[in-house]
Amino acid sequence: MKRFLVAIDGPAGAGKSTVARQVAKRLGLVYIDTGAMYRALAWKALRDNIPLQDEESVTRLAESLTFTLHPKGISINGQYLSHEIRTPEISAAASTIARMLGVRRVLVNKQREIAEKQNVVMDGRDIGTNVLPHADLKIFLTASIEERAKRRYNEMKAKGLPADLEQLKKEIRERDDQDRTREHAPLKQADDALLLDTTHRSIAEIVENILQLCRNKL
Ligand code: C5P
Repeated sequence: MKRFLVAIDGPAGAGKSTVARQVAKRLGLVYIDTGAMYRALAWKALRDNIPLQDEESVTRLAESLTFTLHPKGISINGQYLSHEIRTPEISAAASTIARMLGVRRVLVNKQREIAEKQNVVMDGRDIGTNVLPHADLKIFLTASIEERAKRRYNEMKAKGLPADLEQLKKEIRERDDQDRTREHAPLKQADDALLLDTTHRSIAEIVENILQLCRNKL
């Protein structure tokens, strides 16, 4: 069978994982959430009291872990993680360790290995520019900061969690700034990626749009 790889990148809260998961399901491809790998690594570093600035130790930790992606979570060396890696603290910690070249080398290699064995829809920050530069379709998903913060706010409220819209906006802006300005594989639209703005469009509409683009390539 011909290999088929879809790369979806974009800033925090643009709807990447929801869209990527649905596209993968509809096309029978495997969904790979690369952000979950950075989050799980950050969670484990904090759990093991490894200072987040200690690149050598965090890189060694990354090398020692086996990451297995599941439909709603990830396991590291057999330990299943889901909601515990979705907190604001872990979002910030993941962005901190994602700046390190050593960490990126290890995780990018693991991501490429996953994509060698199967057809995937992979989402992240550097999939189109760095992890899968030869992907069949590259999408850069974005939305206004107001819209992204509002979606996060509604998600948290729906789960019965406390949420502050201005605080969410601040956290998203800080994380995007850090991801955009880092030295290694920053958040950036690939030259051959298609920009889709989800601000005034529903998730269902975006999914249909991407499915059509995929069918044109299959
Ligand atoms: O996508 P998600 O918000 O779960 O990603 C968490 C963090 O992991 C991002 O803010 C970013 O710093 C990092 N990340 C990355 N490269 C990827 C995916 C995520 O640097 N491919």
